[in-house]
Amino acid sequence: VEHTAPRGNGATAWEKLREEASHCTRCPLHRCATQTVFGEGPIDADLMFVGEQPGDQEDLAGKAFVGPAGQLFDRAMADAGVDRARAYITNAVKHFKYEQRGKRRIHARPHAGEVKACRWWIDQERRIVRPKRIILLGTTAVHSLTGKAQSLVSIRDRVLDVGDGATARATVHPSYLLRLPDRDQAEIEYARFVEDLRRAAAL
Ligand code: URA
Repeated sequence: VEHTAPRGNGATAWEKLREEASHCTRCPLHRCATQTVFGEGPIDADLMFVGEQPGDQEDLAGKAFVGPAGQLFDRAMADAGVDRARAYITNAVKHFKYEQRGKRRIHARPHAGEVKACRWWIDQERRIVRPKRIILLGTTAVHSLTGKAQSLVSIRDRVLDVGDGATARATVHPSYLLRLPDRDQAEIEYARFVEDLRRAAAL
């Protein structure tokens, strides 16, 4: 995937923000992660996606959604007819949180304090990008932007008010689809995810 370099009026502000985020110490996660993985995409994008946090590969590459979840996300976006290059893609938490098991780094869920600490960056990104539509991928993103821990079941079919003139919709995180053990269920859930992306992008 080719990512569009920031352009337009907010480009300087965005570059400055990304630079500041690269030194972020607002929560302890920066100590173990390789680097801050900041959002990216056109800074005048109408559409913003918010994931959970970078995974192992994103942490090493410094880019959001490039690992297995990102590949599934790309496929679903293509199936939904949504152009990834036109969307701004970021995460609720910008450092990889993990537990070391031998040589492997196993994803660990960020807790409420970490989500809250990192919300500051999302708010700044939104201030520059001003997306009209925001798609929340999974419950961590929902928690970040609404300030409340909510189950997807209760909000998946709703349009959420997240302030600043933007509407949001929530769907599952692509990693959830990768974890489904049953093939038939995985297919059904994948189709529903694609439908969610299509609908949210068209909101
Ligand atoms: N999962 C996320 O939520 N974000 C990424 O960037 C990668 C995996």
